[in-house]
Amino acid sequence: MTHPPGENGPVEVERRGLSRRSFVRLVGVGAGVAIVGGGTAAFVANRPEMSPRQQGLPRIPDWTADDVPSLRGRSALVTGGNGYPVEDRSGLGYHNALELARAGAEVTIASRNQERGAEAVRRIRADVPGASIRFETLDLADLASVAAFAERMRASRTSLDLLVNNAADGGQLARQVSADGFERVLATNTIGHFVLTARLLPLLRAADAPRVVWVSSLRAATGTINFDDLQSAHEYDYGAAYSNSKLANLMLAFEMQRRSTAGGWGVSSIAAHPGVARTNLIPDGPGPDSTEGRNHRYMPFLYQPGAQGALPTLYAATSPQAEAGAYYGPAGFMGLSGLPAWAGIPEQAEDQRVAARLWTTLEQLGEVTFRRAG
Ligand SMILES: NC(=O)c1ccc[n+]([C@@H]2O[C@H](COP(=O)([O-])OP(=O)(O)OC[C@H]3O[C@@H](n4cnc5c(N)ncnc54)[C@H](OP(=O)(O)O)[C@@H]3O)[C@@H](O)[C@H]2O)c1
Repeated sequence: MTHPPGENGPVEVERRGLSRRSFVRLVGVGAGVAIVGGGTAAFVANRPEMSPRQQGLPRIPDWTADDVPSLRGRSALVTGGNGYPVEDRSGLGYHNALELARAGAEVTIASRNQERGAEAVRRIRADVPGASIRFETLDLADLASVAAFAERMRASRTSLDLLVNNAADGGQLARQVSADGFERVLATNTIGHFVLTARLLPLLRAADAPRVVWVSSLRAATGTINFDDLQSAHEYDYGAAYSNSKLANLMLAFEMQRRSTAGGWGVSSIAAHPGVARTNLIPDGPGPDSTEGRNHRYMPFLYQPGAQGALPTLYAATSPQAEAGAYYGPAGFMGLSGLPAWAGIPEQAEDQRVAARLWTTLEQLGEVTFRRAG
């Protein structure tokens, strides 16, 4: 997987030639550029334009976390969310949870690592005195865990206003399978979130103006939905598996909105991507020796801080102006960084026949149905 690179920072060149530090930096940047060169070309070639349905949309005014409206009395679930800042990395879900809690929402973060979860809760409470925040254990790559988690949610509340499908597995170098025998990246990023959303639909439908936000990626533009090898059993590449899962999530966001409208569910389904941000996705995924790990090392200036990367998702989740069925991402150069804007939708994400087939395939794989819900 190669995250698309962003604008180069200025290269420091001294008047009387290069200092030793500048030389080392230049070599590093050169190596980094060489490493990501192929990925850049692929990304530029695949860079999504605005879809026909996005033509003529008005520019979104500058929007930051300060613009999150009051969420008092609202409840939110963010999958992931335990990636509190460590050195220069922090998870996007953590920043989403922090800002949702700051706005007064009752927030649950849910993922596997309890220790990191407890520490994330402690830090959010320290930052936002009186915050309503808790951690729950959830393994999206284990459908029994998803079912048990949804059952606990349904037992402890009567509605849910906001679900942010944020957690992700960046993929390991070698193919792995989930507890249920699915390829692990697809299992975590797509199947787990699909099943979770289905199981929480009754709670969402019981809320006033509920939203589901699906976190996708610029990488969706290089993804494909191959029904003949959905589980990457014949051919596995962690980057492709990740891209495919992120395309799937984008298509599910749009398909869910179509089904919600047709079925009168009253749930707004919205997609967002963060551009590129410095998080735990690579360290916890393919690791420091992968192409992406080297990008992190040699080209740190490409990655925006987690707090900024979280903004498009936060906008989709909270802005009164955010539209059902829309896709938001950063406004900056090639959508890599910046404040929230409309994100270009990859052409393949607009294929409604594939989206409908994906939906029914996931209902079968996950043994859930959205039809009975509500
Ligand atoms: N960082 C970027 O540049 C970038 C670019 C495009 C899209 N994104 C998207 O942004 C979202 C957030 O990612 P991030 O960059 O913030 O990564 P991150 O720091 O690695 O956070 C991922 C989160 O997912 C959780 N998670 C992983 N596997 C899980 C599982 N099986 N069950 C439940 N939770 C699981 C992790 O917690 P546990 O380990 O405790 O389970 C962690 O909280 C993802 O959807 C990602 O695809 C990120």
